[in-house]
Amino acid sequence: MEGRGSGMGMLVLVLVLVQAVGFASCQSTSFCANTLSRWTCPKDLPTFDKVDLQKYAGRWYEIGSNAFFKNLQEAGGTCVSAVYTLKSDEGYVEVFNSQTRVIGDLGVSLVRAISAQASQICQGARQICSQIFVGSVSQGLSIVQEVATNTSQSNPADSSALLEAKAMIESALGGIDAGLDSLAKNVSQMQILNSQLSQADGKAADRVAQLSDLAAQINAGVVDAIIPEKLAAIAAARQNITAIAGKLYNAPGTKQLAQLLFRAVTLIQDLEESVPGQAATIKATVNGAVDAAASFAYEKSENVGGFVTILGKAFQNSTDAGKLSVVFDSIAPAQYWILKVEDENSDDYGAAIVYGCSDLPTGGTYQPFFILSRKPTLGEDVGIPFLQYAESLGIYQDCHEVFAFSEQPATCHSDQIQFARGFKDKDFLFAGIRKAEFICTEGLGMKDAAELKTTQ
Ligand SMILES: *[C@@H]1O[C@H](CO)[C@@H](O)[C@H](O)[C@H]1NC(C)=O
Ligand SMILES: *[C@@H]1O[C@H](CO)[C@@H](O)[C@H](O)[C@H]1NC(C)=O
Ligand SMILES: *[C@@H]1O[C@H](CO)[C@@H](O)[C@H](O)[C@H]1NC(C)=O
Ligand SMILES: *[C@@H]1O[C@H](CO)[C@@H](O)[C@H](O)[C@H]1NC(C)=O
Repeated sequence: MEGRGSGMGMLVLVLVLVQAVGFASCQSTSFCANTLSRWTCPKDLPTFDKVDLQKYAGRWYEIGSNAFFKNLQEAGGTCVSAVYTLKSDEGYVEVFNSQTRVIGDLGVSLVRAISAQASQICQGARQICSQIFVGSVSQGLSIVQEVATNTSQSNPADSSALLEAKAMIESALGGIDAGLDSLAKNVSQMQILNSQLSQADGKAADRVAQLSDLAAQINAGVVDAIIPEKLAAIAAARQNITAIAGKLYNAPGTKQLAQLLFRAVTLIQDLEESVPGQAATIKATVNGAVDAAASFAYEKSENVGGFVTILGKAFQNSTDAGKLSVVFDSIAPAQYWILKVEDENSDDYGAAIVYGCSDLPTGGTYQPFFILSRKPTLGEDVGIPFLQYAESLGIYQDCHEVFAFSEQPATCHSDQIQFARGFKDKDFLFAGIRKAEFICTEGLGMKDAAELKTTQ
């Protein structure tokens, strides 16, 4: 019986995974280092190149997805599952996704709004990362280094003062980096709370309070304290550089070095001028997320209980078996890459990592990530290595894209069958449902359903 027992198992898995992921990310580099290394989608990402669609067909349960996807595309849904039917003659896999609607229309729009704000906060943090690590300030610092090197013989006092100022600036930038790392962790936690609101875990008021608390930590931490403090330290060091530049300008034979230093000062000032505005935007967005969360008090659970479905087609790349592209209605084709499977040599794969990535015109990426399983739960013996494998490929689930679990309560799947029986057009978002009703009503495994359909 998949009952309460597996629900508890899930809870244990959640806790263990969260710890494991936390541990893994402590070991790895900072948010800034991660984000700067994946400004665009990963190139040459290895997929599982032996995908056999026969073994891939059938019913799958979503164990989790990245929070940005969950809180946008799956907002308000639990019991997310998919049925894939191989249509060999037509050359595609029919994709039938379904979920149960558990919060009202207002709730859904708030979950999406919070997620969009979380994404903007992370985008703002990325811009600051870029400013502190690859922006003008690094150019300025290499000039300071060059001048310090060139004056080390002739003017050791100024040379070491320049190096001291440079070290101060670097240390301040490191402080901002650490602050942004905390911000990313706080936003991840906000997105997890948001996914719990989205999946109606029954503790909405607590979730809202916790979310506001995290928002307050972001503001009190990096935004209102760390950034202003570190920028003040940078300004102090920059003033010392200016003073040395002034001295060199008036001394014989060092005018050129002085001019270089003045240029460095301007480059450092660029950072001092741009970061406060970026921090203010982050703060406004953080406050917007808090306001959205507070509006959950007005969520009325209207239109709850519907069985939401979508039907699409997936096409396998003829030369690259792990790469599929999936098309839903009028939505542009999306990458559906199978990165890894469990039980490679069985008749059916037991679990899979699915990923897709597209570069956004505004910068950054959109990268849906899923762990699927044949059962509504997945053991940590598979789940943790899956997440670690993804991270080893450079797929970082940080900031707004943290991995979030999908609720698969034991009642889900019998409920879905019930909803399918009580089928009414208005309950469904997309066409093509009659076939789905057939599959769900009979509660069939995918291959059985495919057989039945072909004999009709
Ligand atoms: C620094 O010194 C090197 C070697 O003496 C010289 O080639 C270079 O032009 C100098 N740089 C500046 C900015 O004066
Ligand atoms: C949020 O950030 C603060 C630092 O500002 C940090 O101490 C705290 O652990 C973070 N909380 C979470 C849940 O990441
Ligand atoms: C600035 O220079 C003063 C002395 O001229 C020194 O005491 C101080 O440590 C320097 N500060 C930085 C940030 O370089
Ligand atoms: C199939 O994959 C190859 C290699 O990854 C790629 O070059 C090609 O464009 C893909 N074909 C289609 C139709 O997407």
